Amino acid sequence: MCGIVGIVGKEPVAERLVDALRRLEYRGYDSAGVATIHDGVMERRRAEGKLVNLERKLGGEPLPGTTGIAHTRWATHGVPNETNAHPHFVEGVAVVHNGIIENFSELRDELVAEGAVFESQTDTEVVAHLLAKYTREGLGHRDAMLAMLNRVTGAYALVVMFQDDPDTILSARFGPPLAIGHGKGEMFLGSDAIALAPFTNQITYLVDGDCAIMTSKGVEIIDYAGKPVSRPKQISQAAAFLVDKGNHRHFMEKEIYEQPEIISHALGYYVDFATQTIKANGSTIDFATVSSLAISACGTAFLSGLVGKYWFERYARLPVEIDVASEFRYREMPLLPTQAALFISQSGETADTLASLRYCKENGLKIGAVVNVKESTIAREADTIYPILAGPEIGVASTKAFTCQLAVLAALSIKAGRQRGTIDAAQERELVHHLIEMPRVMSRVLNLIQPQIEALSRDLSKYKDVLYLGRGTSYPLALEGALKLKEISYIHAEGYAAGELKHGPIALIDENMPVIVIAPYDRFYEKTVSNMQEVAARGGKIIFITDEKGAAASKLPTMATIVLPDVDEVIAPMIFSLPIQLLAYHTAVFMGTDVDQPRNLAKSVTVE
Ligand code: F6R
Repeated sequence: MCGIVGIVGKEPVAERLVDALRRLEYRGYDSAGVATIHDGVMERRRAEGKLVNLERKLGGEPLPGTTGIAHTRWATHGVPNETNAHPHFVEGVAVVHNGIIENFSELRDELVAEGAVFESQTDTEVVAHLLAKYTREGLGHRDAMLAMLNRVTGAYALVVMFQDDPDTILSARFGPPLAIGHGKGEMFLGSDAIALAPFTNQITYLVDGDCAIMTSKGVEIIDYAGKPVSRPKQISQAAAFLVDKGNHRHFMEKEIYEQPEIISHALGYYVDFATQTIKANGSTIDFATVSSLAISACGTAFLSGLVGKYWFERYARLPVEIDVASEFRYREMPLLPTQAALFISQSGETADTLASLRYCKENGLKIGAVVNVKESTIAREADTIYPILAGPEIGVASTKAFTCQLAVLAALSIKAGRQRGTIDAAQERELVHHLIEMPRVMSRVLNLIQPQIEALSRDLSKYKDVLYLGRGTSYPLALEGALKLKEISYIHAEGYAAGELKHGPIALIDENMPVIVIAPYDRFYEKTVSNMQEVAARGGKIIFITDEKGAAASKLPTMATIVLPDVDEVIAPMIFSLPIQLLAYHTAVFMGTDVDQPRNLAKSVTVE
C-alpha cells in the first residue's frame, strides 16, 4: 500500500506534495514524509502518525524547492516511526517506495558486508544503498537505476531523486500502480490519478517493468534493459472524484447515506427501466457458453462475491467456484478455457486479486472485472469491465461499494439466467422490477432504523465479543457484519453460517456474547429461528434483524429486534446490509475510534 507523489515543477512543491498526499491517505496513514531539492541540497521532513503531524512539522520548518517527492506509509517492514518513514536518504539519493522488496534481507547482508550502515528497519533502504553504491562505482543515474531494478525482486512502485540532478525524478513500477501526470512546464507522478487531479488530467499509466525518467519537460519510459517503450497518454476523469464529507461526521456515514442514490445510478447502467430487462452493455462474456464461473476477491469484495455465488447458481444454474484471492492465486486449481472468471475489487489494485486475474488469463479464461475504479490495473487487464459506479469511497471500511457490487452481481446473474435459458422473460421482468424498487426501499430503511440502531449501538459498544449468524445469502452478510464491526470498533466479532452454530461456536454463548441474527422471512427463516432458540436456551442475548413477516412470526425474547420492510429475496442482501453497516458505524462512533481511518488498515492493499 502506501501513497507516493512526486513533482518536478517550476514553483515550490512542498505544499502541493502534502496536498496530494492527503488524497492518498486512504493507502496508509501511519507516518508520512516529504523531500525536496533546493540550491543543490536535498532535505526532508518526516513525522510519525497521520499527515497532520507532517503538516505541523512543515509549518515550523518549511521546505523550499521546486522538485520533490513524498510518501504516506502503511508499514510492512519496520514499526511505524519517524526513522522508518520515507523518504530514505543515502549519500544524496532519496527513495520512496510502495510494496515489498522480497530479497531485501539478502541484499542488506551483502551491502552491510561492503560497509553500508542502515538507519531504518525497512526493506526500502536497500534500494537507496544500492543506488548510492552504483553511483559511487561510476554509473550515471539512469544506469544506476536500471542496475538496481535488475537486482531487486518483489512488488514495488519506486520513486527516486538524486541531489545532484534537481530537474529529474526517476520511477519504476512492478506491481503497485504509478501514474505520470503531464503539466505545462511541470510533471507529476502519483499512486493514482486522483492524487494528481488538481494538477492535471493528462495521465500516462506505467505498466509492470517500466522505468520512467521524468523532467519538467516530459517523460521518457524505458524497460529494465534500457529500451524505450511507449505508453499512451489518457484523459483522466479523476477530478470528478474529488469529494468532501458534506454535512456528515465521517465519510463512512456519508457513504452509507448516499447508497440509495448511488445504487439507482449504478442500476441505470445495467437496467433498461422501460423494458425491465438487463442491458448487454457490450459484455464479452456470454454466460450461455460458460461451463462454470470462478470468482475471486478479498475482504468485503469477496463477501459480495459469495452472495453472487448464491445468485449465479440459483438464477443461472451456473456452478461457481469462489475463493479469497490470496488462496486462489496459489491453489493451483485446474482451470478450463470454457470457464469464465470474475474479479471483484473496489480499488482495482488489490495485489492478490490482480495475481489471481493474471493466473486465470494465463489459463485462457475470459475475464470480467467488477470494479469501482475504471482506470485501475484490474480494470485495464480484464476483457470486460463491469463498473459498480459507486463513486469514490473514502471511508476505509467499505459500504456503498459493497452494495453496488451486490447490485451489479444481481444484474449479471439475471443476465446469465436469461442467456442460459434458466429464467424466462417474465421472471427477468419480475426480478428487474424488484431491483428498480430497491433505492426507494433503501431510503425508507435508512430513515426508519437510524434512531433505533444508534441507541442499540450504545449497548453493543459495552461488549467484547459479538457473533453474527445467517443462512443463504444472509450468511455472507453475517460475515460482512462481523468484518465491519471488528475493523472499525475493534470489538471481536465472528460471522457464522447459522447451521454451523452447534458445530462449535455454541460453546461461546452466554450473557456476555450478543448474537446478531440476520433472518428475513425467506426459505431459511424457520431453520434460522431454530438456531436462535438454541442461543436463547443458553442465555444468549439476541439482536434480531428481520422483516415485518419475520418479526410477526417469532415469539422469542430479544435484546432488540430491527424490523425492515418485507422485500423480495433478490434485493434482501442489499437492504439487510444497511442495518449491519449502521450498527458498526454507530458502535465505532460511541467507542471513539477513528472511523474513516481505523488502525492498521489501508484502503488499497497492493502488497500480498
Ligand atoms: C473492508 C474492506 C476490505 C476490502 C478489501 C478488498 O471494509 O474494505 O476488506 O474489501 O481490502 O479491497 P478491494 O475491493 O479494493 O479489492
